[in-house]
Amino acid sequence: MGNSFKFADLQLKKVSLGEYQVSGWVKTHRQSKNISFIELSDGSSVKGLQLVIEPNLATYAPIADRVSTGSSIIVSGKLVESPAKGQTHEFQVSEIALVGEADPEKYFLQKKHHGLDTLRENLHFRPRSNTFGAVFRIRSNVAFAVHKFFKERGFYYIHTPIITTSDCEGAGEMFQVTTLKPGNAKVDYTQDFFKAPAFLTVSGQLEGEIFATALGKIYTFGPTFRAENSNTSRHLSEFWMIEPEISFCDLAQDMQVASDFIKYLISYTLEESAADLEFLHQAEWCVPNLRANLEAVVNKPAEVLEYTEAIKILENATQAFEYPVSWGIDLQSEHERYLTEKHVQGPVFVINYPKTIKPFYMRLNDDEKTVTGMDLLTPGIGEIIGGGQREDRLDLLTHRMQAQGLDVSNYWWYLQLREFGSVPHAGFGLGFERFLMYVTGMKNIRDVIPVPRYPGHGGI
Ligand code: 4AD
Ligand code: MG
Repeated sequence: MGNSFKFADLQLKKVSLGEYQVSGWVKTHRQSKNISFIELSDGSSVKGLQLVIEPNLATYAPIADRVSTGSSIIVSGKLVESPAKGQTHEFQVSEIALVGEADPEKYFLQKKHHGLDTLRENLHFRPRSNTFGAVFRIRSNVAFAVHKFFKERGFYYIHTPIITTSDCEGAGEMFQVTTLKPGNAKVDYTQDFFKAPAFLTVSGQLEGEIFATALGKIYTFGPTFRAENSNTSRHLSEFWMIEPEISFCDLAQDMQVASDFIKYLISYTLEESAADLEFLHQAEWCVPNLRANLEAVVNKPAEVLEYTEAIKILENATQAFEYPVSWGIDLQSEHERYLTEKHVQGPVFVINYPKTIKPFYMRLNDDEKTVTGMDLLTPGIGEIIGGGQREDRLDLLTHRMQAQGLDVSNYWWYLQLREFGSVPHAGFGLGFERFLMYVTGMKNIRDVIPVPRYPGHGGI
């Protein structure tokens, strides 16, 4: 690390023998006659560094009354063993500089406890709170683990486009991209920027398939957009999705990758973000026993349920559902939660769904009624993964696209992947924020993405 080292996760820069420099934001400042204390955070740890200051220190005395919660400072001094409880070391300040003040009369993040809702209304300050500092350090670590997992398994990282003319999920929930000014006249798309209706992507899968059928194993990891008007704690209008796509792969192998992936991400996070996770798991809003449940996931093979079987379980459930259950329905959140929380009490793959409720690209099973789709459901959240084996037969794919009312000519290139060197292939999409909710125990998806986008909230 050259001339800096990590202590209590804070970055200390060595300035001379035994002397270090550290900079950050003041969490608390306690002044008294004989000694002053500052708890300092540089953002790298949920635990701050305790600074100990002589009140008559030449650089401190003139600024002491202006150092308050939220102000930024730079200090030099020595790390010494601490006599106080709860910390092994403290920092004896020999020099201090006040960089930016934070008027206690006006600064939002004071010592008093703020609820998550209030913090959400102050997005620009919430990462400075202990809770959100922990969440976003974990998010960063998990993102790194995603790349590490795929790199170790020979996958290539592909950047699929954000702007597209095709609707991958066929659900018509897309944000339009245009340079035309809104007006009443009938829109002439030949005059538009892309000479055709264009949208923000709902998934990188279709372009991912181009690269899987060339490089073998690929993954995407990028922002995706959905204009569904779902004002829920599990939906965002802009979210990040990880989508692997694998050639010469069937549904069973696909589920194996998904299961290995989830286990890998959980193990990595438990290890690399231990202190931050522990802090979050202790919070009053966190689900009980989360750590033990996560450890159980790592050590247990994932359960698999056929959709048809899942429907029978729901029909025989002792609990009443708002949405009635019968073969052919799309599983609602309450059904998913019952299966994963009550029936399996852990993550469960539901596979082989009716073709009528799944997108055109899923492979038709021999029963001609179901398709090789899979969803991974987890307690507290429901679906975190959606995927499956793709339809690799040209005629059947064309037929299903037509049956779902898609303009086949718009997907000519996608069909050609089946005409030339077609292979069985499969993949899935993991909602990055849904996974983060799962590991952190945060109950609202808006609290695990830096700047959430949802209906009515397109700005900060
Ligand atoms: O199930 P979905 O719609 O599947 C696809 O998009 C496929 N093309 C993926 C693939 O096979 N390559 O979405 C995948 C996942 C969901 O399981 C969920 O975790 C997440 O994306 N997701 C959302 N997350 C937050 N907000 C939303 N509005 C989401 N919609 C889907
Ligand atoms: Mg889905």
